[in-house]
Amino acid sequence: MKPLKVGLLGIGTVGGGTFSVLLRNKQEIFRRTGREIEIVRVADRDLVRANEVTQGKVEVTDDPFSLVKDPNIDVIVELIGGTSLARELVIKAIENGKHVVTANKALIALHGNEIFAMAESKGVIVAFEAAVAGGIPIIKALREGLVANRIEWIAGIINGTTNFILSEMLEKSLTFNEVLKEAQRLGYAESDPTFDVEGIDAAHKLMIMSAIAFGIPMQFDKVYTEGITKLASKDIMYAVELGYRVKLLGIAKRTNDGVELRVHPTLIPQKRLVANVNGAMNAVVVKGDAVGPTLYYGAGAGAEPTASAVIADLVDVARMQFASFEQRVPYLAFQNNQISNLPILPIEEIQSAYYLRMRVLDKPGVLAEITKIFALRQISIDAMIQREPQENEDEADIVFLTHITQEGNMNAAIAEIESLSAIDGRVTKIRMEELSK
Ligand code: HSE
Repeated sequence: MKPLKVGLLGIGTVGGGTFSVLLRNKQEIFRRTGREIEIVRVADRDLVRANEVTQGKVEVTDDPFSLVKDPNIDVIVELIGGTSLARELVIKAIENGKHVVTANKALIALHGNEIFAMAESKGVIVAFEAAVAGGIPIIKALREGLVANRIEWIAGIINGTTNFILSEMLEKSLTFNEVLKEAQRLGYAESDPTFDVEGIDAAHKLMIMSAIAFGIPMQFDKVYTEGITKLASKDIMYAVELGYRVKLLGIAKRTNDGVELRVHPTLIPQKRLVANVNGAMNAVVVKGDAVGPTLYYGAGAGAEPTASAVIADLVDVARMQFASFEQRVPYLAFQNNQISNLPILPIEEIQSAYYLRMRVLDKPGVLAEITKIFALRQISIDAMIQREPQENEDEADIVFLTHITQEGNMNAAIAEIESLSAIDGRVTKIRMEELSK
């Protein structure tokens, strides 16, 4: 069979990894695919870098538009990132009848609906395994491996930068800002870390997984997103004392009232495998009604791990290029005409257990005042610790773990607690998930 001809847009970290893994594992990939996958042209702004990586083996240009209209190219691999030029190029490639492989989570989370509709009308494949959790084949697992299941929930550590920061905060008893600086110095965190530390990158990935898990359209603006910038080391330490770890989780849950889509720091029991995923690694737990909880672990970023996912998509294109549209796996796992909207619950309507920390005057009756507020709101306490005041202090930290309640109810209770004269400042609230059923 004739080779699959690939046009590569962007030969930076992931593009370079894709180029070298395809070259190194050429034979092994051919033995599986029965067809060669050949990068025929590369476009990159940095021609010096592009020529260095490709070593004269491939034609290099700085004009990406010349690739998306090249009749000799079957599939465009988009690795330039961003949502402006990338969107324009992907749309042009599809208009020209080319299949698309992309690692661009923002592009799929924000413009996936438009891209899939156009791709369907042109009968082309759009594949995006590398967009979520780097080298972990989570899209494949959700779309194909778990196809028999009604997916109930997903909970994932899907941002390596923040997981690295949280791991270091715990291990070295450092503050967020101290670890961030160190991570930037070592090149683990971007100089503008906003997308990672504010949870936006994780929210893009969560949106994509949820669309596939539940058969819903992309609706990124409805994902509740809270990062780790305000997390205090103190809370990470108290969580450990109580048998928990704090992780930035992307959580998607199907409930009787709709779907919860949220990214935020979360306490999870230390005994769960996923609580022990440290450093820059990623892990996703998926609960299917038939299979139960399943766990996927691996590198969520990096040149070759991400290239591994890009090439898996290229192999799928090589295999399915000549299959009819109906024979291919649908973009979002569900038949395109079966994608249907479910209500996405506002954060006030989600159900969660909570970690609460407050600073209180150490005098009789304070605890009773607080627990009375909980009792009146049907909030059940699961555990509690109180720290003795330091010498010369008359205030103490109290930490509560609660059972599940609605977030709106918890927020109202917190407002009442904060208005008590014995409470100093604000109550720190962190959501908590058992991840057991
Ligand atoms: N910046 C991401 C992370 C990797 O830290 O996991 C690419 O999505």
